[in-house]
Amino acid sequence: MAYTIPAVQPSLTRQPAWKALHEHYRAARHWHLRQLFAENPKRAEQFRAQACGLYLDYSKNRINDETVRLLLQLARDCRLDEHIEAMFKGRKINVTEQRAALHIALRAPLEESILLDGVDIVRQVHAELERMSRFANAVRRKEWLGHTGKPVRNIINIGIGGSDLGPVMAFEALRNFSQRDLVFRFVSNVDGTDFAEATRGLAADETLFIVCSKTFKTLETLTNANAARQWIMAGTGDSGVTARHFVAVSANVKGAIEFGIEGSNVFGMPEWDGGRYSMDSAVGLSTMLSIGPENFRSMLSGFHAMDKHFRTTPFERNLPVLMGLLTIWYNNFFNAQTVAVLPYEQYLKRFPAYLQQLTMESNGKHVTLDGASVDYQTGPIYWGEPGTNGQHSFYQLIHQGTKLIPCDFIGFCQTVSSVRQHSILIANLFAQSRALAFGENADDVRAQGTAPALVPHRVLEGNQPSNTLLARKLTPSTLGSLVALYEHSVFTQGIIWGVDSFDQWGVELGKKLAGQIIPHLEGRDEPPREFDGSTRALIEIYRRLSPR
Ligand code: F6P
Repeated sequence: MAYTIPAVQPSLTRQPAWKALHEHYRAARHWHLRQLFAENPKRAEQFRAQACGLYLDYSKNRINDETVRLLLQLARDCRLDEHIEAMFKGRKINVTEQRAALHIALRAPLEESILLDGVDIVRQVHAELERMSRFANAVRRKEWLGHTGKPVRNIINIGIGGSDLGPVMAFEALRNFSQRDLVFRFVSNVDGTDFAEATRGLAADETLFIVCSKTFKTLETLTNANAARQWIMAGTGDSGVTARHFVAVSANVKGAIEFGIEGSNVFGMPEWDGGRYSMDSAVGLSTMLSIGPENFRSMLSGFHAMDKHFRTTPFERNLPVLMGLLTIWYNNFFNAQTVAVLPYEQYLKRFPAYLQQLTMESNGKHVTLDGASVDYQTGPIYWGEPGTNGQHSFYQLIHQGTKLIPCDFIGFCQTVSSVRQHSILIANLFAQSRALAFGENADDVRAQGTAPALVPHRVLEGNQPSNTLLARKLTPSTLGSLVALYEHSVFTQGIIWGVDSFDQWGVELGKKLAGQIIPHLEGRDEPPREFDGSTRALIEIYRRLSPR
């Protein structure tokens, strides 16, 4: 049955809560966080929420009670609660592809049951998890042997987008839980140097490739998988060796088998799970190999805890809802174009890159679910780097530039590194959110004896908003909750904007055009007249300068 979109009438910008927020913004844009904190000593207690071991301090935002009330009203008017239920019940909320978006089923415990077209998909998920666990244990125990009888000890994940970013991010984030005698590498780019560097120094007979692709049609992944097959077979000439050195993760089992991967080595990926929401499906096979099945399940339980929180907690205490609505506040009323994600945790170094696909592929949309053009801004640009590195590069612009940049700071109270170094790290996090919020005015600067001519240069206006997320320690479970928090925040934003957060039609044109251009880079014919002048000229220059 086709999914009927819960009707939101009137359209977003004509809704009373939206209009009230506009009116409210006319006053709010003049507020300063210094003044808001001075006026309300209980602000830090008032604007905080906690769930699944994550503590969210959102007091350093340009909001008051009324802002939050209006944002929550907007969420209710957009029938967010109904949409959440629709997602959890497996309705086909990805309307343009007529698919459910059931990533929440990937982490549902076995006792739960989610029926999709009459089939309990939770059972299927757990059956696949069992298969993955058996395989992971065999590799981790050195029982999975390569074609010369040596155990596999190098694992290379080949995939791109959701089939790469989740695995890389999770591997880096949970390195401290990884089995250190296994080597993990990741190949995504069609640029051959990526593959060459990933395989450099590795023995082919001790290397296992995971070819990860939902569609098993992605040019980059198939090109790299072919390179991998040649690399493995070089020296042996025996096509039978692939059975010991290749596994696949895909929703297109037939495609994987046709490529030459044994059916028993193909792990399934459901159609109802989108690539950017797939790190806890079999796409996470490299994660499971690295941290082990038990830790992988603990990560899933962290995801599930946040799913439950999102589904059942009143909006005023609901972390993903609050974070999603705050993003709307800055994006649509203050016209902020970006959100900076600043993890004060080296292990989360790939988290901003992971979030870029999650947020921008989901909400970078220009029409609503029913195809009408939006007359408001949708998804902001997410970017970031781990602290303190960012402090010595782009923070200057956040502190003294001309743009409003809401920031998400992420930190942990315990570390595996030295406690002394950790205090230095976390002091920097707290200092930055404080400096961004409160700045330093001309009087403060003058009072420090600054030469008059330098005073304007040293003033920091402050008033840059931020959220701070704190947790005890970065564990598999915390990582799961953190990722689910952002997934559901993205969902909340998508519902307010009325867009399909689960399709990605915008990436197709580039793929098609690349397919048309490839033969002209390799051939000698004149590039076709239908190509524009710029592309034709670029092709000609490339041909002249490339070795042929
Ligand atoms: O091109 C975008 C995209 O479709 C992403 O949504 C997806 O994560 C990625 O390509 C990889 O796709 P696949 O897993 O099918 O190779």
